[in-house]
Amino acid sequence: MSIMARSVIDKTAEKQEIFNQIRALAKEKNAVILTHIYQRLEVQRVADFVGDSLMLSKKAEATDADLIAFCGVHFMAETAKLLNPKKKVLLPDIQSGCPMADMINVDDLRAFKKEHAGAPVVCYINSSAAVKAESDICCTSTNAVDIVESLSEKEIIFVPDKGLGEWVQLNLPDKKLHIYDGFCPTHWQITPLEVDKQREKLPNAVIVAHPECNPEVWRKADFVGSTSAIYNFVKDHKATQFVILSEQGLVARMQADIPEKEITTVFPLPLCPNMKYHSLENLYLGIKEEFTEIKIPDEIIEPARLTIERMLEISNRRKTWSGPVNQG
Ligand code: 13P
Ligand code: SF4
Repeated sequence: MSIMARSVIDKTAEKQEIFNQIRALAKEKNAVILTHIYQRLEVQRVADFVGDSLMLSKKAEATDADLIAFCGVHFMAETAKLLNPKKKVLLPDIQSGCPMADMINVDDLRAFKKEHAGAPVVCYINSSAAVKAESDICCTSTNAVDIVESLSEKEIIFVPDKGLGEWVQLNLPDKKLHIYDGFCPTHWQITPLEVDKQREKLPNAVIVAHPECNPEVWRKADFVGSTSAIYNFVKDHKATQFVILSEQGLVARMQADIPEKEITTVFPLPLCPNMKYHSLENLYLGIKEEFTEIKIPDEIIEPARLTIERMLEISNRRKTWSGPVNQG
């Protein structure tokens, strides 16, 4: 056996050991592990539930576990805390933030509201608890069109994602959206030129984009949808070749779950570095030592929770995620 082969086997055995340790610890502490689908595959595999942010919010709200270990970015763990404030919510690596969510703070939002006085505020779930508290209703990329459509006002403020905001505007031409200038650095890494190159290289492929991409990019795609919509679209579509214009973790999960289809993405890989901070090692330590605990000031909890609850009330009436769901 070569040294190379040996080290690969050792690594797999090591991973299996820590996998088993995490599952045993989660059982001992009555912890539920919620993992976003952009996480490393090994962190997805050890989870109780894997999904998009909407599905994970619902799991956080419904859980009767004592501890919620959240492998996602900071605003997702905050959302879990808002929906279940009596629970201890842990973000194993506190560096895991969302640069798009950080593009708007409460002062920015107040100034934007003054420019468009009277318009209700729809905030993307990719925002801090403080921004949610200052907004009227929340949305995810799965339900953004439904949420905006549900409002009686014609003029609506949409923060912070301009890619998703433009997508909602395109779908609801009778509304007038005032869209904030935030964006996702990972999805905006994908250029229109790269989409043209993929078309030329793979003329039979179906090109699928997340609405967080630059509108110049998603306009060139055959299908635009949220993380869960992309997953379901590719799984159910009769075509066999797909180019995914979204984050690499979703692509890796689809490649693993739908091996009969050829699923690729662009180069350089659209990778969200913030999503990759969590590893099996720091997840284990996070649950063991109970860090890093998410804390939200009392005066923010109630208004921010209401903003999310209003969204869930509307979206619960609809079928949403039917992608991967690990069952521990
Ligand atoms: P989802 O709402 O689809 O989970 O996406 C969150 C996100 O951060 C996408 O970049
Ligand atoms: Fe934020 Fe973009 Fe990363 Fe999603 S992919 S967490 S929007 S930076």
